[in-house]
Amino acid sequence: MAARYIVPALAIVGSAAAQSSCSVSGTTTIQSQGDATALAACQTFTGSIAIASTAVNQIALDGIQRISGSLIANNVTQVTALSGSSLTQIDDSFMLNGLTILTSLNFPRLEAVDTIDWEALPALQGLSFTTGVQQASQVSIQNTQLQSLSGINLQIVQQMTIANNPYLNEINMQLGNISQSLILEANGRNVSATFPNLEWAFNMTFRNVSQVSIPSLASINGSMGFYANFFSSLAAPNLTSIGQTLSFVSNEALTNLSFPELTTVGGGLQVANNTDLQTINGFSALKTVGGALDFNGNFTEVDLPAISDIRGAFNLQSAGDISNACNHFKPLSGSNNVIKGTYTCSGGESHPGGTGTLSPGTNTGSSSSSSSSAKSSANSLYISGTTGLIGVVAAIFGML
Ligand SMILES: *[C@@H]1O[C@H](CO)[C@@H](O)[C@H](O)[C@H]1NC(C)=O
Ligand SMILES: *[C@@H]1O[C@H](CO)[C@@H](O)[C@H](O)[C@H]1NC(C)=O
Ligand SMILES: *[C@@H]1O[C@H](CO)[C@@H](O)[C@H](O)[C@H]1NC(C)=O
Ligand SMILES: *[C@@H]1O[C@H](CO)[C@@H](O)[C@H](O)[C@H]1NC(C)=O
Ligand SMILES: *[C@@H]1O[C@H](CO)[C@@H](O)[C@H](O)[C@H]1NC(C)=O
Ligand SMILES: *[C@@H]1O[C@H](CO)[C@@H](O)[C@H](O)[C@H]1NC(C)=O
Ligand SMILES: *[C@@H]1O[C@H](CO)[C@@H](O)[C@H](O)[C@H]1NC(C)=O
Ligand SMILES: *[C@@H]1O[C@H](CO)[C@@H](O)[C@H](O)[C@H]1NC(C)=O
Ligand SMILES: *[C@@H]1O[C@H](CO)[C@@H](O)[C@H](O)[C@H]1NC(C)=O
Ligand SMILES: *[C@@H]1O[C@H](CO)[C@@H](O)[C@H](O)[C@H]1NC(C)=O
Repeated sequence: MAARYIVPALAIVGSAAAQSSCSVSGTTTIQSQGDATALAACQTFTGSIAIASTAVNQIALDGIQRISGSLIANNVTQVTALSGSSLTQIDDSFMLNGLTILTSLNFPRLEAVDTIDWEALPALQGLSFTTGVQQASQVSIQNTQLQSLSGINLQIVQQMTIANNPYLNEINMQLGNISQSLILEANGRNVSATFPNLEWAFNMTFRNVSQVSIPSLASINGSMGFYANFFSSLAAPNLTSIGQTLSFVSNEALTNLSFPELTTVGGGLQVANNTDLQTINGFSALKTVGGALDFNGNFTEVDLPAISDIRGAFNLQSAGDISNACNHFKPLSGSNNVIKGTYTCSGGESHPGGTGTLSPGTNTGSSSSSSSSAKSSANSLYISGTTGLIGVVAAIFGML
């Protein structure tokens, strides 16, 4: 990122008429507003622009409409405002990292960027993006003070990570699909994630979110997981299939899961450590679980009325009395039966654990019957001789 090509080295392509296009090889580094002003005639800037870490105050990249490479500012600790009044497109990255006093980011006409990569912008509270970015393939916004993402309303994205923005309490996008992954983590305590038009995503991970709205979501190619969220209710009314694993872990206020159209989970289905979840009855259409079914927590009721095929292990462990569930599922286990993998079901557990934490075959619905020695001896994954190959297969599925 050295200033190999400073402004005088710009090759102005052609003559008078073509003044609007400037071409450099590599990156042009701007030291001051004077350097930025000198680029104002470049409607299309072919190359990348970097802001020097020694730049101060305000940098306005006016005049430039398109940057064919990247716009980069790393460790620019003395700049308070960065703007581009005409910039509509950045073909590669818009990268900002460590702009400690940047309070204003003003790109009123920006609409398309390949990669947004913003990290450590501790003074940035808002964006002035009037048109709004609608297209980006990769977006990562982390460690900012942004209170809103207003100005970024993507129709299309491949990968998006929004994390550690503690003042951000609303994420609302028009996305129709997410072709790689979405990760939301550690944003505002009351953050809502609203994706009204999202029909499919390859992979999604929600952590520390207060409200999730995914009314149109119909399928997930890969996995979807909800970890340490704050909501009490979660509904995916239109979701029918998940290619790999579906997980709900440590959502301490969760009382109601509603996935009424979900028929297939290709990998594992995990419900663990959701302290307040008493009843698991939101999977009324679920037929197939390709991996392990692994539920542990405080629940007393588990209903899977449509289940017809669980190919991996089956593990239900609760602190509560789950005799009814154990009595119901036990007859469904066996290599040619509904539950093909290792079966365990146990209530009254002081530390309900995941697949492999109890001896295969355990079937004790409540505390009175199971002995503590059987529990404590079962901490390691154990494959009995009699379950043979099935046990091995189930153990592998259990790891999914
Ligand atoms: C910013 O500066 C720090 C040390 O001053 C350095 O470790 C870090 O790599 C720099 N970051 C970037 C993106 O240049
Ligand atoms: C992805 O979503 C966009 C925006 O809604 C839509 O135009 C496009 O057709 C979708 N692509 C697929 C493959 O669903
Ligand atoms: C949390 O956000 C919801 C909207 O998602 C809002 O109705 C509610 O008032 C907010 N609560 C607090 C304490 O800010
Ligand atoms: C956010 O979620 C992570 C795990 O996904 C968890 O370790 C962390 O404690 C959570 N933070 C809060 C504030 O709940
Ligand atoms: C739910 O799915 C149905 C059938 O695929 C579709 O007609 C309907 O529009 C979807 N609902 C929402 C809210 O997207
Ligand atoms: C993911 O699922 C969507 C919707 O079913 C489909 O259009 C897309 O091709 C799938 N992507 C991959 C990589 O399988
Ligand atoms: C896909 O989602 C699962 C469940 O949330 C998560 O564990 C995994 O890290 C995600 N993968 C990617 C690439 O985001
Ligand atoms: C659980 O959520 C679903 C969907 O939002 C709702 O229809 C249902 O009434 C809720 N159940 C309870 C017990 O709150
Ligand atoms: C559930 O909580 C227990 C005890 O804190 C912990 O050992 C276990 O790893 C947790 N399970 C998951 C899936 O996070
Ligand atoms: C069960 O509930 C109690 C009391 O709410 C809580 O302390 C405990 O951690 C919960 N156990 C599990 C496994 O969720």
